[in-house]
Amino acid sequence: MTEIDADLINELDGQRSATPPGLLSKQEKDVLIERAFVGLYRWYVSRSQTTRNWNPNTDFDWRSLRTDHSTELNHIIEGFFAVEQYVPDYVLKLLQIIRRSYGRSHFHIRWGSEEEKHSDLWENALLFSRYRSPEWIADYKVMLRENEYDLPWDDPMSMIFYTVIQERATQVNYLNTGLIAAGKNDDPTYADDVDPVLAQVAKVIAIDEAAHYNFFLEGARLFLYYYPAEALEALHNVIKFFAMPAGNLIPNYDRFSETVARACIYGPREHLRDVVDVALKNLSIENYRALRKGINRIRQVPQTDGTMRDTGIFDVLDYDGVEKKVQKLFGRIEAYEQKVGFDEVDPTHFIASGITRP
Ligand SMILES: [Fe+2]
Ligand SMILES: [Fe+2]
Repeated sequence: MTEIDADLINELDGQRSATPPGLLSKQEKDVLIERAFVGLYRWYVSRSQTTRNWNPNTDFDWRSLRTDHSTELNHIIEGFFAVEQYVPDYVLKLLQIIRRSYGRSHFHIRWGSEEEKHSDLWENALLFSRYRSPEWIADYKVMLRENEYDLPWDDPMSMIFYTVIQERATQVNYLNTGLIAAGKNDDPTYADDVDPVLAQVAKVIAIDEAAHYNFFLEGARLFLYYYPAEALEALHNVIKFFAMPAGNLIPNYDRFSETVARACIYGPREHLRDVVDVALKNLSIENYRALRKGINRIRQVPQTDGTMRDTGIFDVLDYDGVEKKVQKLFGRIEAYEQKVGFDEVDPTHFIASGITRP
């Protein structure tokens, strides 16, 4: 071999892509994920402005809120207020780790503006039910804000899965509270808690939480599609160690969580059946049992070039199902872009991951 040949070989070797043919590079995947987040964010804002632009003060008949709720129901409302009022921390902390993503960070600010109303709404419920005096609420706010919320995970991928589970859990909490206010809870403790104003409050917030859940679900699917092995591992860890936000910051939180569990609003059973398994099904995974079983096989697959590990995903994840839903999301973004005219200047297009069953 001549010296020139050796140089040429070295040069070619240096230029060779680290990505196997047919697969996208990390940079290409990240660009696609970001495009989808921007597109979804734009779509979401339009939808939010047209369908969920409610006001926590003027859109409810607060004077008609009942002032004789059961103590248990009052505790529950107080707990909801305590959790929601940490919204500045929820926004600030996550924003710091997703700020490089234009789509995700801008969505997060919008999300915060919707969550801020939830806090106001529950505060109004506490105030107008006469359960707590204005002075008591003022002191409570000061006490709560002495503690600061910290993220349960410090990477963007884990946090998208965390928010999927958390938003779904919050939605379930409010839907089941709405059942109490509508007289549809069998527990005699809540037999006299029928209250149309409270039912409307719970319904309006639950619809917001469903919209949040759907946004994060679409985002989570992007990671599952373009980074399946890493995403499944992150998802598994998030579920394994999941706790509702701010539970460790709120005084008497144990009493609150026992009350909501006893009322069949949200306890371990609802968490697995109505939150985790529902979210997993929406993410094209059979259930938590299947994820737990499958995750070890993914870990065991030898990793030589990063692609081998992906082969283990097909046992736990309906990858074709994920692809169809990601394609559908891109389709929704394309339709939105056509409506506005973005398609003429900067269209978004779906590109397949290239990951296939071996
Ligand atoms: Fe909320
Ligand atoms: Fe939410």
